[in-house]
Amino acid sequence: MQTSQELYITYTELLQKAADLYYASAVLQWDQETYMPPKGAEHRARQLATLASQAHEMLTSDAYGSLLNELATRNDLDDTAKNNVRLSAEDYTKNKKLSPEFVEEMSKLTSECFNAWIEARKKNDFTVFAPSLTKMIALKKRQAELYGYTNHPYDALLDEYEKGASVAILDPVFSGIKEQLPVLLAQIKAATQVSCECFHQHFPKQQQWDFSIDVLKSMGFDMEAGRQDYSEHPFTTSFSPADVRLTTRVDEENYASLLWSCIHEGGHGLYEQGLPEEQYGLPLGAATSLGIHESQSRLWENCIGRSKDFWLGFYPKLQQYFPEQLGNVSVATFYKACNKVEPSLIRTEADEVTYHFHVLIRYEIEKALIEGSLDAKDLPAKWNELYTKYLGVAPVDDKTGVLQDVHWSHGSFGYFPTYTLGSFYAAQFYHQAQQDISGLKEQVRAGQFGPLLQWLRAHVHQYGRRYTSEELCTRITGKGLDAAYFMQYIQDKYNDIYEIKGKQ
Ligand code: CO
Repeated sequence: MQTSQELYITYTELLQKAADLYYASAVLQWDQETYMPPKGAEHRARQLATLASQAHEMLTSDAYGSLLNELATRNDLDDTAKNNVRLSAEDYTKNKKLSPEFVEEMSKLTSECFNAWIEARKKNDFTVFAPSLTKMIALKKRQAELYGYTNHPYDALLDEYEKGASVAILDPVFSGIKEQLPVLLAQIKAATQVSCECFHQHFPKQQQWDFSIDVLKSMGFDMEAGRQDYSEHPFTTSFSPADVRLTTRVDEENYASLLWSCIHEGGHGLYEQGLPEEQYGLPLGAATSLGIHESQSRLWENCIGRSKDFWLGFYPKLQQYFPEQLGNVSVATFYKACNKVEPSLIRTEADEVTYHFHVLIRYEIEKALIEGSLDAKDLPAKWNELYTKYLGVAPVDDKTGVLQDVHWSHGSFGYFPTYTLGSFYAAQFYHQAQQDISGLKEQVRAGQFGPLLQWLRAHVHQYGRRYTSEELCTRITGKGLDAAYFMQYIQDKYNDIYEIKGKQ
């Protein structure tokens, strides 16, 4: 009989080989969205499909299943090994529910759908995207059925990004947003408005880029273990903790586009670089969930990057990069500009208050598409109706409306709610960090982020998938997700910025 240690080594080798295939396909996907010439699309689709089906085969083989079963009976494994085996067994059960044919079909359709989305955006025409999207929705419905669910088919898809999340849990979160955020929004509307004019000047591409690299380095992003490039839609991917790729986008007439996407993706990147390298390819070497991933990007982007202390430290440096544009703009004016609240059309450029209405709208649409109460062809009309209802604005075309996000072209239904969860976790974690790290405020003001990064490494990054989001949150803050932290955080922040007096 093989010893537990021998079995565990066999298991590790198998999982790491599957990870090699997975990360190889991540390189191809990264390339597809950064440098690949348009004519490469067709062959790239089949290359990705081949890698995906091979990895799927390895992770669903009967031999691997027996190995996991055997390992589960061994009591002499250490704690780390037991956790890896437990999580792998859960993944195995889930993976077995999708046939190799289904996985290959999904991979091919994803490439087709992504290219249709790019084409539709170029032509500013949703009807170019609609046929592929209709096929994608049908396939996602089939996926929900294959996974199985108790209450709502959307639950099966949510679970992929946020284990344990469901319509029953999210409906109350979004009801809270529907009830409380309009009150704050009304207070802000009634106050003296702040201007973000200073962002809308000509900012040369190269200087924007150079400052973004400065900021990433200050945050602690290791440029020897990662890089930044341009893409249509900013994202972060990694091939190991030692090779993490960030992408950003630039608009020379609007500095906000690159600045916030860079800090945001930098937060994601720090999480990836902080995952334990010795757990490569194993569950404890991967991020907890998308909600927790997003908590890291939101914490850096909003709690740090849009804070007064951050700019008290960084603003003089920024002025050196852009003396003509910002030489005569005070740090107080710039700080307010960073936090201007205004209902708008584009999610990724939304402020911290109205952002969650953008997510709410997508949540309601996805639920309807998956339960079958909304057809893809009716999407633009529904989109415009909900934007008018919640934000009082309506898109003038598809590009600023229903075609703005890449997610549906990737088949990522159930992903959007993790953005709101991320902001809420971020507020709760940052509240705790301020209590745990003495002098944090002064450190942020001095551009010293080492202690904060260490705190995040120790409390979040090092654990990989060992705990669920809720378990992790409870370990860090003493309780599960509590929306009150986020509500308090934004109320305090905007009371100050908009000089709102007298709480309601
Ligand atoms: Co993000």
